[in-house]
Amino acid sequence: MAPPRRALRLAPSLLSADFGALAQAVHEAEGAGADAFHLDVMDGHFVPNLSFGPALVQAVRAATARPLDIHLMVQHPQKYLKIFREAGGDTLVVHAEAEGEPRTLLREIRDLGAEAGVALRPDTPLDRIDGVLGELDQLLIMSVFPGFSGQGFRPEVLPKARRGRRRLDELGSRADLSMDGGLTPETIRDAAGAGATFFVCGNSVFAGGDVADNLARLRRAAAEGALHEVF
Ligand code: DX5
Ligand code: ZN
Repeated sequence: MAPPRRALRLAPSLLSADFGALAQAVHEAEGAGADAFHLDVMDGHFVPNLSFGPALVQAVRAATARPLDIHLMVQHPQKYLKIFREAGGDTLVVHAEAEGEPRTLLREIRDLGAEAGVALRPDTPLDRIDGVLGELDQLLIMSVFPGFSGQGFRPEVLPKARRGRRRLDELGSRADLSMDGGLTPETIRDAAGAGATFFVCGNSVFAGGDVADNLARLRRAAAEGALHEVF
C-alpha cells in the first residue's frame, strides 16, 4: 500500500510580492492561510536573473513563523547552504543541474537540521536523480524554466511529475512532490492530479486581485484536482 501523502500545501513565492512592502505581503498571505513561503535565490549564473540573498530571507524569517522554502537557483549551492540555513531557511532545495553531487549536498542540508529538496528543470529527466529519490523531503518538478515569475505552465512536465510521485510511493517516501512555475487555478488542478502536494505560486497570489481570494481559489482547485489523476 502507498504511504500516506502529506496534506496539500500552498507556498506563495515572494519573488512576485512588492519588495517595498514585503513584511506586509507576508502577513497578508499568512493571514489568508499560506502554509509556507517560497524564496527564490538567483545568482545571475545558473539562471539569467538576480534576486536576493540571505539578508532578505532573514527579514522574512522575522516576519513569520511559517516554514521558509529556499529555492537555490545558484551554480554552486554548496557555498550557500549554511548561510541560508542560518538566515532562517527550513527547507533548502538545490538544482540537479548545478555543481556538486546531489547525495553530498542532501547530506549537508540534513546535517544543518533542514529539510532537503532537489529541483529538476523542465528538460532534466527524473532518472538523473534516481539514486537519491529515497533521501528527499521534497522533489521539485519545475513547470517553467527557472529565472522569472509570470511564465506559462508547461504541461509537458506532468508525466514526469506523476512518475516522480509513483517512484516516491514505491520507495515508501513521504516526500512532498512540489511544482513551481505558472500555477493558476486552472493549471494547479493538473499539478495536483499528477500527485503534487506542495504548490509554489507567485503571480497567481500577488500580481492581481485580493491575496486571500487568490489563495482560496488556488486551494479549492488543488483539492479538486487531487481527486482526478492526470496521466
Ligand atoms: C521561477 C521561480 C518561481 C516563480 C514562480 O524561477 O522558481 O518560484 O517565482 O512564479 P509564478 O508562479 O508567477 O510562475
Ligand atoms: Zn522557485
